[in-house]
Amino acid sequence: MSADPNSTTRINSKIIAANWKMNGSEELLKEFSEFEVTKGNDVIMCLPFTLLDLANTLLPNFIKIGAQNCSEEDKGAFTGEVSASMLRERNVSYVIVGHSERRTLFRETDSTVFRKVQLALKNGIIPIVCIGETLLEKKKKKTFEVLDRQIEGSISKIETPVQLIVAYEPVWAIGTGLTPNINEIEETHFHIKQKLGEFFDFYIPILYGGSANSENCDEIISVPHVSGLLVGGASLEKRHFAKICNC
Ligand code: PGA
Repeated sequence: MSADPNSTTRINSKIIAANWKMNGSEELLKEFSEFEVTKGNDVIMCLPFTLLDLANTLLPNFIKIGAQNCSEEDKGAFTGEVSASMLRERNVSYVIVGHSERRTLFRETDSTVFRKVQLALKNGIIPIVCIGETLLEKKKKKTFEVLDRQIEGSISKIETPVQLIVAYEPVWAIGTGLTPNINEIEETHFHIKQKLGEFFDFYIPILYGGSANSENCDEIISVPHVSGLLVGGASLEKRHFAKICNC
């Protein structure tokens, strides 16, 4: 199945993407087989590789399936890696690339991320490219500088026209229960939009990620220039994730 072109071009509906990280099990996934969303938002579930096949048979059709990473190489002697073309064979429509956990713990650079983005696109998979500043960078008032550098290094050289999603995830907000205030989110998303506009003339959804949950989702999703949410911890509980998908 090819990536759904309408998913990222419908500006009025929101995109809610789950990032299960290295969590979940077949048992948990089974709970999501009866998942209902009334709001008309696009729902993407980015799952561990091992759950992708089961997700294809279990999840309702309206949920698009995503992975959380792909190799920066096409194929070959790279033990343990999974390529974008392999993901494609598993019906994956989206892949998260450049998540801060991968940038920090697995030393991925902007150029690594860019190679992954290119391979995802080559294989018809829409990349969800994560960018965001650390707490230290925020304190030094370098947020925009960092975001610009990440956009230039990992996104700007993509050949147009393509589909992609950007996720703004302040590193200090991930898994901490902290979020930027509403004005900060608006200002930053506007900045990202302007920066992307220097390189691309088509609509690129910008998701917010970092401690988004069923309590704050309504407020964050109504912020101008926020096209949806990338949800970690709160996506592991069906009841909470359903509420977020109905924001
Ligand atoms: P969180 O994670 O919602 O648990 O903060 C978000 C993410 O890392 O994508």
